[in-house]
Amino acid sequence: MAQRIDVKDVNIYYGDFLAVEGVSMSIEPRSVTAFIGPSGCGKSTFLRTLNRMHEVIPGAYVDGSVLLEGVDLYGPDIDPVAVRRNVGMVFQRPNPFPTMSIKDNVLAGVKLNNRRITKSDADDLVEASLRGANLWNEVKDRLDKPGSGLSGGQQQRLCIARTIAVKPQVVLMDEPCSALDPISTLAIEDLIQELKKDYTIVIVTHNMQQAARVSDKTAFFNIAGTGKPGKLIEMDETATIFSSPTEKATEDYVSGRFG
Ligand SMILES: Nc1ncnc2c1ncn2[C@@H]1O[C@H](COP(=O)(O)OP(=O)(O)OP(=O)(O)O)[C@@H](O)[C@H]1O
Ligand SMILES: [Mg+2]
Repeated sequence: MAQRIDVKDVNIYYGDFLAVEGVSMSIEPRSVTAFIGPSGCGKSTFLRTLNRMHEVIPGAYVDGSVLLEGVDLYGPDIDPVAVRRNVGMVFQRPNPFPTMSIKDNVLAGVKLNNRRITKSDADDLVEASLRGANLWNEVKDRLDKPGSGLSGGQQQRLCIARTIAVKPQVVLMDEPCSALDPISTLAIEDLIQELKKDYTIVIVTHNMQQAARVSDKTAFFNIAGTGKPGKLIEMDETATIFSSPTEKATEDYVSGRFG
């Protein structure tokens, strides 16, 4: 599992509006890459182009290429549904299906993909996914209770279990801890460290300490002004971005002088 991503000359549009311009970057497998930058610079927009979620918005489109292990996700023969299975996504607010049991939440993605699965395979997959998301011990005695009965941090780990249950290559996370308390945040950060052994992970975060703690590489995006496109300013080893970045704008942002 875990595949590399190579983005080349990507421009991202909402209708006529060019939201993100000219991004090229490489993301290594079995690593964590953080996207940082001020609000509106296009972090979420760019993240969604990595699994073809951007184009579900009417009028939205992308040009350039996004290669997953050398294969262009935007190529003519590529099924976007298969892309989204391969490149899973975890959102800002935990979004379990509220009336579904914990177990059915974990299996939701698998069932959506029309995979027929025996009861014992399903039980094994539920356990493996919940263990992978570091939630098993907390929920193993109440798998048939609704997902909405869990704490926020537990719900987010449930969503991570649902994402990894379909066995993706890449996991995208858009501010996965922004609705969580510090303890749950640390639990998710520990989990991200575990997950990177098996997956390529990309995380958007506004929390500089979080980026410094969890990521191997950091990409800083910026925007010149309202209505202007966001751009990738620089990407490097996280330690370099936070101690001696090349660009002054990066230095100003990571040292808290703006954003
Ligand atoms: N559905 C949409 N339709 C039109 N424009 C959009 C849409 N979603 C985002 N945008 C615009 O695209 C630009 C980038 O937004 P995006 O949400 O990617 O920024 P962000 O860096 O994730 O910001 P934040 O840190 O606040 O989450 C903004 O100008 C935003 O208004
Ligand atoms: Mg965002």
